[in-house]
Amino acid sequence: MTLLSEHVVLVTGGGSGLGLGLARHCLAEGAQVAIFEISAEKVAQLRDEFGPDVLIVQGDVTCLDDLRVCREQLLSRFGRLDALIGAQGIFDGNVPLMDMPEERLDALFDEVMRVNVKGYLLSARVFCDLLRASEGAIVLTTSTAAYAADGGGAVYSASKGAVRSLVNQLAFEFAPHVRVNAVAPAGIANSQLSGPRSLGLQAQKQSDIPQDAFLSMFRSLSLLKDLPTPEDHGPLYAFLASRQNRIMTGQTVVADQGMLNRAVLHRQQ
Ligand SMILES: NC(=O)c1ccc[n+]([C@@H]2O[C@H](COP(=O)([O-])OP(=O)(O)OC[C@H]3O[C@@H](n4cnc5c(N)ncnc54)[C@H](O)[C@@H]3O)[C@@H](O)[C@H]2O)c1
Repeated sequence: MTLLSEHVVLVTGGGSGLGLGLARHCLAEGAQVAIFEISAEKVAQLRDEFGPDVLIVQGDVTCLDDLRVCREQLLSRFGRLDALIGAQGIFDGNVPLMDMPEERLDALFDEVMRVNVKGYLLSARVFCDLLRASEGAIVLTTSTAAYAADGGGAVYSASKGAVRSLVNQLAFEFAPHVRVNAVAPAGIANSQLSGPRSLGLQAQKQSDIPQDAFLSMFRSLSLLKDLPTPEDHGPLYAFLASRQNRIMTGQTVVADQGMLNRAVLHRQQ
């Protein structure tokens, strides 16, 4: 018996990066998997990779109707849902507040908060009754930007702080039937995290940063001196998504290779 056998797991934002790695890991742990993803191009790639084994639904996590369609398809294919893993997100381009044109701030705030916060709120609302019925779990994705400065700009950091608070409240409201936790990664390899359209940065992707430069920066900052892949996060998310987790709710696990705990007096090479 594997960790997620007899679990149906939905990954939102599973088209690339973290969510894709988590979907692969959940499959390997025996789950029946569904992926919800906005990008048509990524949806086509997912269909090529997984074929009929995985339910792939194209949609926007900020759109209630799209989430309802996903719910219907889940029910007709699997008849249940045991875990919702939220992995969608967009970046704010790391632009300092005072470098940002005042007139773009409103649109930037709405764009980033819609995907990074409202998307999680709506999906929790739409899938909660299915998760209650299965005594299931929600696992959301925040970031070390929710804990410390310089993990993004002001809007991204605020959005990730909001996810931390959302987890606290949802764990309270959905208890004792649904366990709600989050993971706060630092850097993730193979991510395509994209910038905001409102600043004209939608074509800017984390994957544009040369792999070597990103890896060496992360190695110089983190205690474990490695840049994790999405799949490296798999066991932690899978545990939190599984019925094996009988002890945690309302928590955010910082999974940062020790980055926030690094020495400041002795610079490591
Ligand atoms: N990349 C990092 O270093 C890093 C670090 C800490 C936290 N995170 C967080 O991890 C999560 C995953 O990011 P990633 O790095 O894998 O990026 P990614 O862009 O590779 O994956 C995010 C996926 O979400 C999808 N998506 C975006 N908006 C959507 C919407 N409205 N509806 C449905 N799907 C949507 C994207 O198309 C993409 O496939 C994000 O929440 C991000 O903030 C990333």
